Amino acid sequence: MACGNLLEITDPSWKSSSISADSLKSIWRDRRASNAFLDLSGVWRFRELLPAPDSPDQVISLREGNTPLYQLPQASRITGVSRLYAKHQGMNPTGSFKDAGMTVAATFARQAGYRWVACASTGNTSASMAAYAARGGMRSLVLVPDGKISWSKLSQALDYGALTCQLRTDFDGCLRLLQELVRRAPVYQLNSINPFRLEGQKTLALELMEQLDWQPPDHIIVPGGNLGNSSAIGKALLEMLDLGLIPRLPKLSVIQAEGANALVRTLREAGGKHLVSVQPETRATAIRIGNPASWEKAVKVIQATGGACDQVSELEIAQAKAEIGAEGIGCEPASAVTLAGLKKLLRQGFVKPDETVVLVLTGNLLKDPDFTMEFHRGDLFRDTVNQRDSASLEPLRHPPVVLDATLKAVIQTLERAEKRPEKSDPSHPNA
Ligand code: F0G
Repeated sequence: MACGNLLEITDPSWKSSSISADSLKSIWRDRRASNAFLDLSGVWRFRELLPAPDSPDQVISLREGNTPLYQLPQASRITGVSRLYAKHQGMNPTGSFKDAGMTVAATFARQAGYRWVACASTGNTSASMAAYAARGGMRSLVLVPDGKISWSKLSQALDYGALTCQLRTDFDGCLRLLQELVRRAPVYQLNSINPFRLEGQKTLALELMEQLDWQPPDHIIVPGGNLGNSSAIGKALLEMLDLGLIPRLPKLSVIQAEGANALVRTLREAGGKHLVSVQPETRATAIRIGNPASWEKAVKVIQATGGACDQVSELEIAQAKAEIGAEGIGCEPASAVTLAGLKKLLRQGFVKPDETVVLVLTGNLLKDPDFTMEFHRGDLFRDTVNQRDSASLEPLRHPPVVLDATLKAVIQTLERAEKRPEKSDPSHPNA
């Protein structure tokens, strides 16, 4: 490609399609009642806005998408935003939003005749790619930063049969190496710079609008790492507006961890004109990325929708994750930046309490058990600069209690707990 930029798929037939917005809505709704293979996928159900494979039999699907939109009553109380929702992409087959893109990209990889697919990953892409490759009879090569991804994500790739290489570098180093590799070896790269991935990830936004009866929220807040997901959601919103599926654009805001804030700095220090890379450090390992590939696309969609871009601290991430857990929902640390970011955008007056807000939760709670256990045991911030301030999170911790196996011990513990105020009780000072 002469311009050296990332590929993007646009299909003029989407605009000139003879199918009206209302007909599309009713076709997509009717497919929810169908048992046909493609219709069971919450991605391929929206196939009118996706690239078409040569034949439906080519599609590799694990019934991705169709993820729940939850209300967050406790977070509503905490933030004062009464119409607050979470679109939980962690409820996908491999536990993250990556599956929506992977079904499309893996399908086209197999159709193009590739035997090997490959990715660099902070864990979720590799888990998803390995699953779809296995499902589609392809082999997969995973490059992950040694020691910087959660065991739970790594173990998924192993079980799905990937050739897994833990490289002594960070995510950005893995991605650089992969890009050299694909020039030398017949492997197809499935990182989010792959445009088919982004097409599949668009369906998150389509499905969200369908769940809101096509009444767009005022704000959608999404975590930012390599910035593929924000780009995909933004692309979907602009296409939906073009097609008359929605009457106006929600503001799309991207939140990063303070320690991995390349996009925040790119916008603040370079006006979005060139990338300001950073040396990333955060316990939200999924977004521990310093050189995001899709930064230009993300800048475009933030500007086109009038969204914001901000950063949150490690303490704020941990607190928000525990609060989302206390809803009976839970998510992985990277997803919790959305709730932490919402609080910040409210303080700045960018989001108003009477507006409708959707947080995109990108990964399942079970994706990072080490983080969760360390948080509840009080070890997460031990020997870090945040150790002292982390005392304020104590009321959100629920460490396991080790007891003798006697009725008396359990009853005493129950009685002690009964005397303590319920942590989600709004009258509780820390609720
Ligand atoms: N949330 C989770 C749980 C993720 O795994 C990622 C990215 C993001 C947010 C950020 O999304 O990169 O599209 O801006 N994970 C990639 C991976 C990098 O390899 O699994 P993004």
